[in-house]
Amino acid sequence: MRTRVTELFGIEYPIFAFSHCRDVVAAVSRAGGMGVLGALYFTPEELEIELSWIDEHVGGRPYGVDVVMPAKYEGADLGDASELLARLQSMIPERHKRFVEDLLAEHGVEPLGDEGAGKALLGWTDATGRPQVEVALRHPIALLANALGPPPVDVVEQAHAHGVQVAGLASNARHARKQVEAGVDIIVAQGTEAGGHTGDVSTMVLVPEVVDAVGEDTIVLAAGGIGRGRQVAAGMALGADGVWTGSIWLTVDEADTPERQRDKLLRATSRDTVRSRSWTGKPARMLRTAWTEAWESEKSPGPLPMPLQFMLISDALRRINRSGDGELATFPVGQIVGSMNQVKPAAQVVYELMSEYVEAIERLNAITAAD
Ligand SMILES: Cc1cc2nc3c(=O)[nH]c(=O)nc-3n(C[C@H](O)[C@H](O)[C@H](O)COP(=O)(O)O)c2cc1C
Repeated sequence: MRTRVTELFGIEYPIFAFSHCRDVVAAVSRAGGMGVLGALYFTPEELEIELSWIDEHVGGRPYGVDVVMPAKYEGADLGDASELLARLQSMIPERHKRFVEDLLAEHGVEPLGDEGAGKALLGWTDATGRPQVEVALRHPIALLANALGPPPVDVVEQAHAHGVQVAGLASNARHARKQVEAGVDIIVAQGTEAGGHTGDVSTMVLVPEVVDAVGEDTIVLAAGGIGRGRQVAAGMALGADGVWTGSIWLTVDEADTPERQRDKLLRATSRDTVRSRSWTGKPARMLRTAWTEAWESEKSPGPLPMPLQFMLISDALRRINRSGDGELATFPVGQIVGSMNQVKPAAQVVYELMSEYVEAIERLNAITAAD
């Protein structure tokens, strides 16, 4: 199969797989697609280890790295990472801390032991995202992606100086145009169906809008709700050069998704997700559970702006996951979760996407030929 992205990256299939799991990234790239590692959860030292592992296991195939450097966040003017963390922590209201503690107590979730503090701030500020970019550019990556707005112009320039293509996620046409102005090469037009941070326009409406807005010279990937070959065909029919997927890799063999979480995903239907600000402060699609409902309830103090909300709740999430509380536990996932009913190797998922894509195209060709 040949599209602009298969040519650009030397890949067999125009299928991009976002995952926080290195095994999935390497497996998809080896299968002929392109794995993209989400760097968010890794310190620069950990990221170095993950990328070195991928370098050894990807069989010389191209892969990418995804960082989260939001264009707007609370405390953007507060200096370097160490200073930033303390200053931000002082901005979290007691009322919010009490709400979280009361919610966990209501569900009998135990406090953390002495396993140490979690990674409250993660990569989603400029100060914490940049060291990740520096590590990523020391590896033979083919693509640097950024979520939540255009990456800083100097980061785009650094990537280009290393011969690395830059992709940006966009959930509306105006943002897509801004990304192109900032030098981004590839726009991931991500519809509201998607897992994780997402806008409110559906993939079906968004992709042609973005394709038209950015013009012929910019490559567009369709994202959000893609988990079957028919959806790949739909994305291509809407004008995209390829597809960008996330949720479906959470339940493949290689994924490091904890078993309890995986079982919950396998059981969920396409109606079991909600767009909620209760995870990071920005709307993100995730499983609808007692956690998301509590943040919508009358008692809720309302989520804090990014990055304060995740700083507030990161230890609570660890406690919930450790306790195995089935009611509160939630994770980012898209509406395609309703089709994720079986655990398969990542390579099989890639091949099934492509074979169903071919069937869909043949079906359409047959319809046209019948005229
Ligand atoms: C568990 C999960 C975590 C995600 N985290 C990120 C992230 O850190 N950075 C990012 O650019 N996109 C992130 N996304 C969004 C994906 O890159 C992708 O755009 C989205 O999953 C596509 O929609 P789909 O879930 O319907 O396949 C995440 C998605 C999921 C499911």
